[in-house]
Amino acid sequence: MKLLVILFFSGLMTGCRGNSSYSVPPKLLLVSFDGFRADYLQNYEFPHLQNFIKEGVLVEHVKNVFITKTFPNHYSIVTGLYEESHGIVANSMYDVVTKKHFSDSNDKDPFWWNEAVPIWVTNQLQENRSSAAAMWPGTDVLIHNTTPSYFMNYSISVSFEERLNNITMWLSNSNPPVTFATLYWEEPDASGHKYGPEDKENMRRVLKEIDDLIGYLVQKLKMLGLWENLNVIITSDHGMTQCSENRSINLDLCINRSTYTLIDLTPVAAVLPKINITEVYDKLKNCSPHMNVYLKEDIPDRFYYQHNDRIQPIILVADEGWTIVLNKSLSKLGDHGYDNSLPSMHPFLAAHGPAFHKGYKHSTINIVDIYPMMCHILGLKPHPNNGTFSHTKCLLVDQWCINLPEAIGIVIGVLLVLTTLTCLIIIMQNRLSVPHPFSRLQLQEDDDDPLIG
Ligand SMILES: *[C@@H]1O[C@H](CO)[C@@H](O)[C@H](O)[C@H]1NC(C)=O
Ligand SMILES: *[C@@H]1O[C@H](CO)[C@@H](O)[C@H](O)[C@H]1NC(C)=O
Ligand SMILES: *[C@@H]1O[C@H](CO)[C@@H](O)[C@H](O)[C@H]1NC(C)=O
Ligand SMILES: *[C@@H]1O[C@H](CO)[C@@H](O)[C@H](O)[C@H]1NC(C)=O
Ligand SMILES: *[C@@H]1O[C@H](CO)[C@@H](O)[C@H](O)[C@H]1NC(C)=O
Ligand SMILES: *[C@@H]1O[C@H](CO)[C@@H](O)[C@H](O)[C@H]1NC(C)=O
Ligand SMILES: *[C@@H]1O[C@H](CO)[C@@H](O)[C@H](O)[C@H]1NC(C)=O
Ligand SMILES: *[C@@H]1O[C@H](CO)[C@@H](O)[C@H](O)[C@H]1NC(C)=O
Ligand SMILES: *[C@@H]1O[C@H](CO)[C@@H](O)[C@H](O)[C@H]1NC(C)=O
Ligand SMILES: [Zn+2]
Repeated sequence: MKLLVILFFSGLMTGCRGNSSYSVPPKLLLVSFDGFRADYLQNYEFPHLQNFIKEGVLVEHVKNVFITKTFPNHYSIVTGLYEESHGIVANSMYDVVTKKHFSDSNDKDPFWWNEAVPIWVTNQLQENRSSAAAMWPGTDVLIHNTTPSYFMNYSISVSFEERLNNITMWLSNSNPPVTFATLYWEEPDASGHKYGPEDKENMRRVLKEIDDLIGYLVQKLKMLGLWENLNVIITSDHGMTQCSENRSINLDLCINRSTYTLIDLTPVAAVLPKINITEVYDKLKNCSPHMNVYLKEDIPDRFYYQHNDRIQPIILVADEGWTIVLNKSLSKLGDHGYDNSLPSMHPFLAAHGPAFHKGYKHSTINIVDIYPMMCHILGLKPHPNNGTFSHTKCLLVDQWCINLPEAIGIVIGVLLVLTTLTCLIIIMQNRLSVPHPFSRLQLQEDDDDPLIG
């Protein structure tokens, strides 16, 4: 009899747990298609990506961080920090104290990355799990003395297929299990720069290729039996805007090159004066009506781009679509890096898997909110960060969430019901008092009677 009861309850328990989702740790694959502007989704066709979204969630706009460049935003996704706090403040940097240089082809010195702890490191140190990476910025660097257990040295010539095949191989059979993996692809950024986002014909072709890659990714995950249990986030670092040869700002027309060192050029120039800062600032201040010039201490708070030694004493921020040049014509028809409040600079986010709702659309989150959400999914304790977990609650199946319009609807509904009830009560009281016009004294006595109901 006792045995029967035990059997019954243990049966019930495994029945409820469904025997797979709890016995294996949650897994997450984070994919970035560089330079995937949010409104490409509305303006072009993505049959495979739309299928992915139909069974998952979509965040239409992700507000990224200033400056809206590749390395800084990829590091914000995996740390939840603003650029001034994680230290990757540009694709090109210079440190005055150590005299070190950083660029996208000279990025392996841990010095630049160690101001923050990316999630792939936390995943390996907090839990007995491993991480894997295919070309995500920083994943081939010994950050806090740790690389992902499985990674590739950066090489632009490794195909998407090879990156995906190796990542899925690591996700399916490794011990300890790979629970966090990243996958990075250079498009549509490269083509966005080359053609400009307004070149519909070329962008249509490039974006169809991206959609085919997403189709291949889903097919591969299904084939390997990873699709049902793996959480997949597809997102990007920034958008893209159209540039023109008619919108360039030539610094050589305003200031002698010998007076400053240029650490980064466009659309946010980082200027290190060789002479008196004020003199350089005064020359640049009125250089162009299409460019804001800031002394470091005057950079607007909303950029969260001030408190780091790697931010230079003067920065120049071009208006959308304008390019800062040094005496030569521009070569790019598309660019990014501009003010992060511009919608053209925003990417999107789509996600699918057991952690996410199915068929849910959300208007916006911040790029720094992705990190606490990923930590939650993986069961990791997040490092201090600038993200807000509650911004992503509506995307997750295990969270209770009311979004703002719904909440307003409920409040208005309740108010309407209360008002109607009050009116009804007043009307009924008035009606009841009508048949007794002459007996005011008596009515006062009757006031306490339960006249209604
Ligand atoms: C676990 O579930 C799978 C299918 O979801 C089933 O084939 C398998 O027999 C189950 N294992 C146990 C031990 O219940
Ligand atoms: C971590 O995993 C390895 C390999 O599976 C195992 O040898 C080790 O004991 C584990 N450590 C902890 C703390 O669980
Ligand atoms: C990456 O490159 C370094 C230096 O060239 C080499 O020692 C290392 O084995 C490479 N790692 C991988 C995973 O290819
Ligand atoms: C991918 O895996 C294959 C087979 O293990 C290996 O030969 C190849 O070098 C890997 N590619 C990269 C870029 O690491
Ligand atoms: C630049 O301006 C000139 C003169 O206003 C115009 O003819 C030309 O088409 C413009 N070029 C572009 C790429 O808009
Ligand atoms: C810039 O300054 C240097 C040194 O003062 C001077 O030799 C040079 O002629 C100046 N160049 C221009 C274009 O004014
Ligand atoms: C820099 O130049 C400004 C005006 O030209 C002057 O007032 C200031 O004292 C100078 N500062 C230094 C440190 O030389
Ligand atoms: C800029 O270009 C003009 C004309 O091509 C040339 O005269 C001038 O010396 C150049 N200035 C610099 C700083 O290279
Ligand atoms: C961002 O988070 C870091 C780490 O907690 C903190 O030091 C920094 O002050 C935060 N920035 C802002 C603007 O709150
Ligand atoms: Zn780019």
